[in-house]
Amino acid sequence: MKLIDARKDHYRKLAHDEGYRSRSSYKLKQINKSYRVIGSGFSVLDLGCAPGGWTQVASKLVGNKGKVMGVDLSYVEDIPRAQLIRGDVENDDIVGEVQSYFGGKINAVICDLSPHVTGNWSVDHAKQISLNYAAVKILEQVLANKGNALFKVFDGEYTQEFYQYVKKKFTKVKMTKPLASRKPSSELYCVCLGYHG
Ligand SMILES: C[S@@+](CC[C@H](N)C(=O)[O-])C[C@H]1O[C@@H](n2cnc3c(N)ncnc32)[C@H](O)[C@@H]1O
Repeated sequence: MKLIDARKDHYRKLAHDEGYRSRSSYKLKQINKSYRVIGSGFSVLDLGCAPGGWTQVASKLVGNKGKVMGVDLSYVEDIPRAQLIRGDVENDDIVGEVQSYFGGKINAVICDLSPHVTGNWSVDHAKQISLNYAAVKILEQVLANKGNALFKVFDGEYTQEFYQYVKKKFTKVKMTKPLASRKPSSELYCVCLGYHG
């Protein structure tokens, strides 16, 4: 078995054993350990949350005093202490729902958005980046000053442009690839700390 497949299997088994809905849960856990995008007591918006692995991790990280809302086009089964809604990040209508749930500005926005992939990387990359721009549009209306964000990025020709775009809005921006994501596909994570608009 290749090392990559062995790792995939390892995280799949771990997710099953520990009750997480996705292997991706470990990507968020690893990133958060290094960068503390989410802290205890935070209000967190999870965009593109189905089946809910990141929402589960976020709910644990924020604890009893925090709040988490997950949004996805697809239905997501209940997660303790999380609010889940069906919605499209490309439609501004969800902003009202987000604002009324949190009742004020929030501390972090996490986005693991992926389009339906076609297999043509340039097409999939362009669509995935455009979902991230839609997420930034939402973020601008809900994130508090000094808040944090995390974006999955399908790496390609528009990655630099997106990186430069968010760099203007945050004090610190870093591209990273957690161990749980070491697969051949060019998937990166953009960590954004200290929002200043
Ligand atoms: C890789 S999955 C997220 C996995 C999740 N972080 C987890 O750990 O369970 C990407 C999600 O993005 C969602 N998505 C894609 N386009 C969307 C859109 N326009 N609005 C909301 N969600 C979208 C998909 O439905 C899919 O569930």
